Amino acid sequence: GTPIRVALLGCGTVGGEVVRLLNEQADELAARIGAPVELAGVAVRRPHKHPELPEGLLTTDAAALIGRTDVDVVVEVIGGIEPARTLLLEALKSGKSVVTANKMLLAEDGATLAEAADASGADLYYEASVAGAIPLLRPLRESLAGDRITRVAGIVNGTTNFILSAMTASGAGYADALEEATRLGYAEADPSADVDGYDAASKAAILASLAFHTRVTAADVHCEGIRGVTAADIAAAAALDCTIKLLAICERVPGGPQGDPESVSARVYPAIIPRSHPLAAVDGAFNAVFVEAEAAGQLMFYGQGAGGAPTASAVLGDLVAVARNLVVGGRGPRESSYASLPVRPMGAV
Ligand code: NDP
Ligand code: HSE
Repeated sequence: GTPIRVALLGCGTVGGEVVRLLNEQADELAARIGAPVELAGVAVRRPHKHPELPEGLLTTDAAALIGRTDVDVVVEVIGGIEPARTLLLEALKSGKSVVTANKMLLAEDGATLAEAADASGADLYYEASVAGAIPLLRPLRESLAGDRITRVAGIVNGTTNFILSAMTASGAGYADALEEATRLGYAEADPSADVDGYDAASKAAILASLAFHTRVTAADVHCEGIRGVTAADIAAAAALDCTIKLLAICERVPGGPQGDPESVSARVYPAIIPRSHPLAAVDGAFNAVFVEAEAAGQLMFYGQGAGGAPTASAVLGDLVAVARNLVVGGRGPRESSYASLPVRPMGAV
């Protein structure tokens, strides 16, 4: 078939692995999709830092790359709110499908992106934005779309789980563990997003929006990070045969701000959990999420939650989905028609 042409925005920890996988698996992907996938260009800030890429592919002008008529799909792995939001809105408005790993943007303004996608008929996929390699959003969005999800809860930040695991297992210091997590490519560009809980709060907002078919933003999520967790706290938990994990919990709760019958509560905080709990065994940059639905019962999702290759796996999965939709003329689920289940004011548990 006619090649699917991809504009890649960002080529760092995740983008670099996306390029590697695209190159290594080009033939297999073409067979799976029914058309070859080609890189039309790669936008970065500092082209001289990317000697591994052909010079002709590199640009610092992401907007011009998106605007090119030979681009079908935009993959965004820059991160942050701007310029990512403006670039992705431009792409979606012009009918180009978008794959993104940008949880910060989705949790702040996912509704605007979804509306732009639905208005033009473009696809918007973001599996990599929550829990790295773990297929979690597709199950919430599609496999469980016929069920009624009541709760989504677990460990959704690899960096903080890596730090807490290191502090628990080897008595490593907080600062050393954070430095190692950064070196391994787990931490955000500004790691305070990880340690202060905002990254997990963004993911909680995305999970709650999908699970409960409503719009939850990061600002709706009660958020406490791990900065205040000390070696003494960890020892005190161990003495009780417990461990400390940063949890994200999203659930339907009875009652709501305006006398509503039901609302959504979403919160992130370091919790003391018994060592016998399955989440206590989730170590390093792994994530694990429990989903409870009325008919399905309890489901558990587990795997690598951060890092270049695991995250690129999720990006590539989305790219294949988008490319297949382009080949057959279909598209993924619409999201802008969500009902609005009220959200509990931040802090109310
Ligand atoms: P990096 O900081 O490693 O890479 C960012 C890339 O974006 C770099 O190539 C940088 O260019 C480029 N870039 C930055 N600003 C611009 C701009 N204005 N125009 C063009 N290019 C730009 O980030 P990651 O790869 O770690 O993360 C990317 C995204 O993926 C983020 O949204 C992050 O939250 C998300 N994510 C990351 C995970 C991880 O484990 N790392 C896991 C899941 C999601 P240059 O190379 O020239 O500096
Ligand atoms: N910084 C994030 C984490 C990357 O540590 O979980 C994966 O989203």
